[in-house]
Amino acid sequence: MATSVIILAAGKGTRMKSALPKVLQPLANTPLLGHVLNTARQLQAERIITIYGHGGELVKQTFSKQNIDWVEQAEQLGTGHAVQMTLPILPQEGLSLILYGDVPLVSKNTLQRLLDASTASGIGMITLNVENPTGYGRIIRKDGKIQAIIEHKDASEQQRQITEINTGIYCVSNQKLHEWLPKLSNNNVQGEYYLTDIVAMAVADGLEIASIAPEFNFEVEGINDRLQLAALECQWQNYQAETLMRQGVHIIDPHRFDLRGTLNCGQDVQIDINVIIEGECELGDNVKIGAGCILKNTKIAANTVVQPYSVFDSAIVGENNQIGPFARLRPNAVLANDVHIGNFVEVKNSSVGYASKANHFTYLGDAQVGAESNIGAGTITCNYDGANKHKTVIGNQAFIGSNSSLVAPVQIGDGATVGAGSVITRDVAAHSLAVERAEVRHKANYQRPQKQKS
Ligand code: UD1
Ligand code: CA
Repeated sequence: MATSVIILAAGKGTRMKSALPKVLQPLANTPLLGHVLNTARQLQAERIITIYGHGGELVKQTFSKQNIDWVEQAEQLGTGHAVQMTLPILPQEGLSLILYGDVPLVSKNTLQRLLDASTASGIGMITLNVENPTGYGRIIRKDGKIQAIIEHKDASEQQRQITEINTGIYCVSNQKLHEWLPKLSNNNVQGEYYLTDIVAMAVADGLEIASIAPEFNFEVEGINDRLQLAALECQWQNYQAETLMRQGVHIIDPHRFDLRGTLNCGQDVQIDINVIIEGECELGDNVKIGAGCILKNTKIAANTVVQPYSVFDSAIVGENNQIGPFARLRPNAVLANDVHIGNFVEVKNSSVGYASKANHFTYLGDAQVGAESNIGAGTITCNYDGANKHKTVIGNQAFIGSNSSLVAPVQIGDGATVGAGSVITRDVAAHSLAVERAEVRHKANYQRPQKQKS
């Protein structure tokens, strides 16, 4: 059956004390609403309807590349009122999942179970037993069957003893939503149109309300302030670290590991403390990542060892490399196998061939380095003339002496040698030696300029 997803995202989020709308606050570097939208896509929802209010333009802009139907709720008159706003565009057939922009981590699996459980009767919900139910809507059951949801503020002392709570996540037939929502009233303590009232309407129609529990409690946790945001981030990071460890990744301390995206690992990968992984990353067998490294959209092949505090952005690293400490690989750095990149070496839009080495203080930008070449300490490819970028091409088995500047566009042939301290401005032929330095002058008994007396 076709599934629609309705996402409530109109709340102000006053307690965040932020200029940014609550649903755009980041969890694991993705906006809260972004997590919900990703999950909706994974469920192959036919239609995603998002209800926005406060800060709506920025929210819409943030997700402008996605196929989403936006519905405005100008005044927040309650959760039932919010879903009413969708009726003009809600399909007549199929089921809708009702989710929240500030409940980011509900999983595809849990929602799939909710859909399966709700198909027969046309209404189901996620409930949870908690130690402290204060503030939540309570689930009223009779002979085990759900009868109604009573909001905390409307509940009697006796009803407040109930520990089964409403998570707010439902799956409801669209046909029933069209039938029930226009009938909601705001006749309650808060004067709001409660979405929860559809449960009693379903019971009145003789329907049995399905209920499931989430696989993990963090899936149904909502965010109202920065303390809750940090607490959920922590739970999510622990969960991700546990998942990776179960897959065989050696994370030295799961409490000091952050994954803000996805990570695929081969066997016996080791990750030291305080590593941050962003975007989509891949690590081959036996890769070791030292403390404090940051990897974004990067692929590292088997047996490569990365020393501490190296930073990677959109790099492709071959097998058996030695990288860092303090290396920086920028977009489109492509390293072949057995390459060494040492401390304070920056590589951008450059390829480095098999077994070549740049071990100390080097900038390789817009360069192509062949195999088995040695780039001496302090070598700089001068790729930028102030207006345009130019290429440096270095052949195989070349030797670039320390502190050389290679002024691009320039080519250094196979087996060529560049003398230390050279500023290379012309191509160097294969197997030749090039030394380009200023004339050597040694002046005996040299007098430095004296300070003028005023
Ligand atoms: C709601 C449920 C309660 C449940 C709890 C779980 C109702 C009446 N009550 O209560 O049973 O235990 O969630 O957290 O539904 N929103 C809008 N427009 C509105 C009102 C709310 O978009 O007009 C959004 C809010 O931004 C928020 C969510 O809906 O993301 C929940 O609204 P909130 O008012 O916090 O509901 P609760 O009182 O927590
Ligand atoms: Ca709430």
